[in-house]
Amino acid sequence: MHALAPELKKFRQVFVVCDRNVEAFAREISGVDEPFCITADEAHKTMDTVMDICRALLSAGAGREALLLAVGGGVTTDLAGFAASIYKRGIRYANVPTTLLGQVDAGIGGKTGVNLDGFKNEVGTIRQPEFTAVFPEVLESLPEKELRSGLAEMLKTFVIKNPAHAYERTVALFAAARANGGLCPAVGDSELPELIRAAAGIKQAIVDKDEFEKGGRRKLNLGHSWAHAIEWWQSAAPGRTDLSHGEAVAIGIVQAARLAEKLGLAEEPGLPARLSEELQLCGLPSELPCPQGELLPAMRNDKKAESGRIRLVLPVKVGKVIVKQVNINILEP
Ligand SMILES: NC(=O)c1ccc[n+]([C@@H]2O[C@H](COP(=O)([O-])OP(=O)(O)OC[C@H]3O[C@@H](n4cnc5c(N)ncnc54)[C@H](O)[C@@H]3O)[C@@H](O)[C@H]2O)c1
Ligand SMILES: [Zn+2]
Repeated sequence: MHALAPELKKFRQVFVVCDRNVEAFAREISGVDEPFCITADEAHKTMDTVMDICRALLSAGAGREALLLAVGGGVTTDLAGFAASIYKRGIRYANVPTTLLGQVDAGIGGKTGVNLDGFKNEVGTIRQPEFTAVFPEVLESLPEKELRSGLAEMLKTFVIKNPAHAYERTVALFAAARANGGLCPAVGDSELPELIRAAAGIKQAIVDKDEFEKGGRRKLNLGHSWAHAIEWWQSAAPGRTDLSHGEAVAIGIVQAARLAEKLGLAEEPGLPARLSEELQLCGLPSELPCPQGELLPAMRNDKKAESGRIRLVLPVKVGKVIVKQVNINILEP
């Protein structure tokens, strides 16, 4: 029997959309022989792919009671969730994230969407999945850079909330794996599955309280104001760094901690140095790839900036952040 049989038997019709890099896994866990495969990259995260998914559903005879199961990383779950939210004015969907980032972040929370004219996630919906099922063993084939990107979001979550020393345990696990010559701790015999569940649970609890990001959900943006600016900076000219989203988030977390300290908000002395050292132990970067001043144009244009003020998430100790509006000038060198 396939692994998802108990969950899937509740639905009269089940269709699968998967990242073509995990097609065999998608068949194996769902028992569906003909998943609709997509190319999972940002260039294909478009309305055209959403329409391709809707067409595939239509031609396979998917009705309003159907479930669309998404198997893949954030690109796949964002696309499938969006298609499900508009096909026949909305059918149900569920996620099986196959990246670490998907398991702790993108597969949870109901944000769906596509890129528009090169701008990320400009069109989308909020629609909660029926369930998100995590199979940690699928991470064994994940490329190291992708794993590192997810690790940064996982550590970000534990800087926001740190139950049972999850942050310290995650650092210890990944630092030990790195010291042994690999980035990924063996999923079978480590605490990784439990830590993934803890991070996913924290995000889910935050979203449950604030689905539409009017309050607490904003905390999940820790590190992201800098990350988005770094991503803009590196795409603005050829030959610059090639940091993943997660790597940029790691740098952003340290910057946010430095600002918290500068503003006299810190509750844990030496937090920026501690975070910087521990992120590096896990193979993540922690320093800006350019002078801060070069990031300011992007930070001024941030969606969350209004008349020279920007809402930032500032870590004051591991396990506690505060959301604060600051004048962007404070970031000037
Ligand atoms: N909806 C949300 O709340 C949310 C949150 C964060 C990010 N996102 C979105 O998620 C996307 C990034 O997603 P991602 O980082 O999960 O990865 P991804 O979907 O971009 O996949 C990254 C790469 O890994 C490959 N891959 C996936 N699983 C694999 C596996 N198990 N083994 C081998 N290769 C595998 C993919 O084919 C792809 O080449 C972005 O588009 C971002 O906007 C959404
Ligand atoms: Zn992110």
